[in-house]
Amino acid sequence: MSFFSYSCAKRPHLLSFILRLVMLKSENLLTVIFNSKNKKGRVTMKILKTKDYEQMSRVTANILSAQVIMKPRCVLGLATGSTPIGAYRQLIDWYEKGDIDFSEVTSINLDEYKGLSPENDQSYRYFMNTNLFNHINIKKENTYVPDGLETDADRACSRYNQITADLGGIDLQLLGLGNNGHIGFNEPGAAFEKETHCVDLTQSTINANARFFSSLSEVPKQAYTMGIKTIMQAKKIVVAVSGAGKATGPFFLWREIL
Ligand code: GLP
Repeated sequence: MSFFSYSCAKRPHLLSFILRLVMLKSENLLTVIFNSKNKKGRVTMKILKTKDYEQMSRVTANILSAQVIMKPRCVLGLATGSTPIGAYRQLIDWYEKGDIDFSEVTSINLDEYKGLSPENDQSYRYFMNTNLFNHINIKKENTYVPDGLETDADRACSRYNQITADLGGIDLQLLGLGNNGHIGFNEPGAAFEKETHCVDLTQSTINANARFFSSLSEVPKQAYTMGIKTIMQAKKIVVAVSGAGKATGPFFLWREIL
């Protein structure tokens, strides 16, 4: 595994350039952003290129479990998609072996399709229950996913923003990356000042996510997502990137973040 560490706050262009180079060559990549400023007043970022998906999943799970062990009453920001599944499996394995205790953990997820119920097997609530929550000792009442059944978007979003605020901040936010570089359901170019909001999914995101539905027409056209502002307020952020198709797209998004 090659390992790079850079202080990024003052050198955005250099960093995005380096990120681009690494991403162009990488199919399994982790970026860890420490949002607390170091002595020089800079935010620190580490880029870890892993040899395959399995290693990326183990490293991701290691970072998440370190957070839980160091601060059992922590707030984890969690993500869906195929990328984090391996890390979730690893966490379940460690939980079953008695190595991690999630009983005091609170989790808050990035996003949910508008219109899908928690019982719908394509909803992100269903995904989180079946891929993680049902297999560990986290208390379900301490797990938050936007309410896909709330038809009033303003109400759904302000409620979720209130939950986020009441939690007092996210200790560690896990992110995947869409094929076109979207984060949660924030498409590249999304406004940075946004908190949770309702988005019209782009055709490319609808097409990309159609693989999980029985037909394209069943893919919801809207979703509730945490905004980049909320995401970037997390104390630490882990971005897991897996998949050859993601090699170039993220650059455009990252250029804006950095
Ligand atoms: C969805 C989710 C994103 C996720 C993306 C990538 O669009 N809303 O949060 O990062 O899928 O999924 P995958 O990891 O399957 O490529």
